[in-house]
Amino acid sequence: MKHLTFLLAALMILSFSCENAKKTESQDQIAEKVDSVMAKMNLEEKIGQLNQLPGRGVVTGPLESEQDYITEIKKGHVGSMLNVNSASYTRKVQKVAVEESRLGIPLLFGYDVIHGYKTIFPVPLGESASWDMDAIKKSARVAAQEATAAGQHWTFAPMVDISRDPRWGRIMEGAGEDPYLGTKVAKARVNGFQGENLNKHNTLMACAKHFAAYGAPIAGKDYNTVNMSERKFREIHIPPLKAAKEAGVSTFMSSFNELNGIPMTGNKEKLKGIIKDEWEHTGFILSDWSSVHEMVVHGYAKDNSEAAKLAMDAGVDMDMVDQVYIDELQSLVESGEIKKQQINESVRRILRKKFELGLFEDPYKYCDTTRENEILLSKENREAARDVARESMVLLKNADNTLPLDTDISSMALIGPLAKSKKDLIGTWSARGNEKHTVSFFEGLENTFTNTTINYVKGCEIEGSDKAGFDNAIRAAQKSDVIVAAVGEKAMMSGEALCRAHLDLPGVQKQLITKLAQLNKPLIVVLFNGRPLAIPEVDKAADAVLEAWLPGTEGGNAVADILSGDYNPSGKLPVTFPRTVGQVPIYYSHKNTGRPKQGDSRYTSRYINTPNTPLYPFGYGLSFTNFKYSDIQLNKDSINFNETLKITTDIKNTGDYEGEEIIQLYIRDMVGSVTRPVKEMKGFKKVSLENGEEKSVTFELTADDLAYYTKGMEYKAEPGNFKVFVGKSSQNVQEADFKLVKTK
Ligand code: NOJ
Repeated sequence: MKHLTFLLAALMILSFSCENAKKTESQDQIAEKVDSVMAKMNLEEKIGQLNQLPGRGVVTGPLESEQDYITEIKKGHVGSMLNVNSASYTRKVQKVAVEESRLGIPLLFGYDVIHGYKTIFPVPLGESASWDMDAIKKSARVAAQEATAAGQHWTFAPMVDISRDPRWGRIMEGAGEDPYLGTKVAKARVNGFQGENLNKHNTLMACAKHFAAYGAPIAGKDYNTVNMSERKFREIHIPPLKAAKEAGVSTFMSSFNELNGIPMTGNKEKLKGIIKDEWEHTGFILSDWSSVHEMVVHGYAKDNSEAAKLAMDAGVDMDMVDQVYIDELQSLVESGEIKKQQINESVRRILRKKFELGLFEDPYKYCDTTRENEILLSKENREAARDVARESMVLLKNADNTLPLDTDISSMALIGPLAKSKKDLIGTWSARGNEKHTVSFFEGLENTFTNTTINYVKGCEIEGSDKAGFDNAIRAAQKSDVIVAAVGEKAMMSGEALCRAHLDLPGVQKQLITKLAQLNKPLIVVLFNGRPLAIPEVDKAADAVLEAWLPGTEGGNAVADILSGDYNPSGKLPVTFPRTVGQVPIYYSHKNTGRPKQGDSRYTSRYINTPNTPLYPFGYGLSFTNFKYSDIQLNKDSINFNETLKITTDIKNTGDYEGEEIIQLYIRDMVGSVTRPVKEMKGFKKVSLENGEEKSVTFELTADDLAYYTKGMEYKAEPGNFKVFVGKSSQNVQEADFKLVKTK
């Protein structure tokens, strides 16, 4: 403790001079404290702060050797650890840093808390389907409360990468295809993780990742090359990252991919240029796992020394895992290739966050076993996970009101490889989530349908060609009143490095569904998966289809809540579902082309063997009730640059159930100096309506909402004709015209 005591004594003098040291300190006060620590540090210790090492418990990337991190911590060679868990173990490791390194500077513990820490919520793509920012924020808050009770200071989330390619396994980890929805979700998640004040013991520092365009790899293959115009980069991929910055995100992570020939970790123009120079972000930038060294593999740096220089020059303050900084920076400083000033600047940014988190005041404030035992998997947290899971589910088909089911139904066949699975329901990025705490779909049905005989048969595995279980499945279905099929993907089929070239149901699940459909009994298909699937056969065969995603710890209960009608589904797709992988990338916000498809006319932009339309469009999702939209009314036919257009629709619940509807607003800029998409989302509202109830909903648009990167890359709106659309999905809308005119 002597080292920390020495440091703290110096810091106390500064603290007591403040009006109230316990209150949030000003940036100036923190800067003074940072300087006083830095004055005592030698170059080796400064470089140590830029080094992040992995623990040995959990591995989230390739490890060539296991470093003796305890020895490195004692030497002052480590600023942060990732993948070190639990209140007691983080305390032990922190104690080494605080008591056995020369200056006793506390470590930062970081971890991938992606959709829950111990209580697992739906995968982020699923959460986004709720379009409920309060629910998404709540989920991040619960994750933060649990993770901070277990020693974590920092999550490598939110992942805000926009993706329009369902082959990419990490599409599951983001908010889908649309930058507008993506910005709202990014903000909600940052606010949820970080809370109001980083200094509180239960707020988790967030990291917006990945910077940038990592979600657009060629052919949907992870880590693959990205090529795109500056306009597309700025319009589609940057907005959610910018929203995270505006929400106060503490850190950014550089991405693995190259962009137009330059790996992002060494991309000075984009990384430092946008985050630090353009946005004046005061937090710090972290590399991704070994991405500094990988610049050598990319063929961009000749060796690790050059890679270290490129990354430092690009503004990467902390090096994750590969130890290139700790190995190379000292000699780069000695040779003058890296200026001491650059090192100081990075150290200052990192120490500032340690001060803001209150780690110098109490390095163990996050290592509280009592709090850990009380909070992790608490009843309250499980209830929140169940609420969010129900809200995330999307009803894709419900012919003849097959759903909801009568809870007194006498028998139900439950068929399929996901029916009893627990580990798949929590997904791959499930932090400390454990399958043994997870409610399976089977258990959820048992909890809800207490008067029903459930005839369960697995039928087949998720993968493989074995159909031996089909006969038993058919027999179970024959003796039951309804058939519920639980099919989809394994957890290990979406997430990092888990890309798929085929988007149909894996194995023989599709054949199982076709067989069950031949029995002419009500067939309900529940899908558990982490990406859009191309499943036209399932859509055709089933009477009802529910997209349940990978719904988390309470997933089984949440699906049962919907099947029984206890909860009326309200989710809408945050991403387009294709008919076939050949349509990918397919997204609602495409351009018109000079030859848009017209009927069966040959020389138009189309396929000869598949329609242009998706299986289920962006924004689509059904309810047990019906919502009728009136025509839209505008308060004006034209607006100038200072005026506001008001767009109003009346929505009536004409069905039998109370329900929630997500009303969506899109625009089209008819003529631009650069062509514009056929639709762009500009707003949405989630509205709750009793049956029979009608509500008037008004959206507002100003010239700012119509701005884009014009021909000269100026971000502005151009006068001219626009269309505005309001509706239930990107395809099912009412429309009206208006003009943007010059302000006189
Ligand atoms: C690599 C992933 O790309 C990144 O998102 C994650 O945070 C790190 N590994 C740490 O696990």
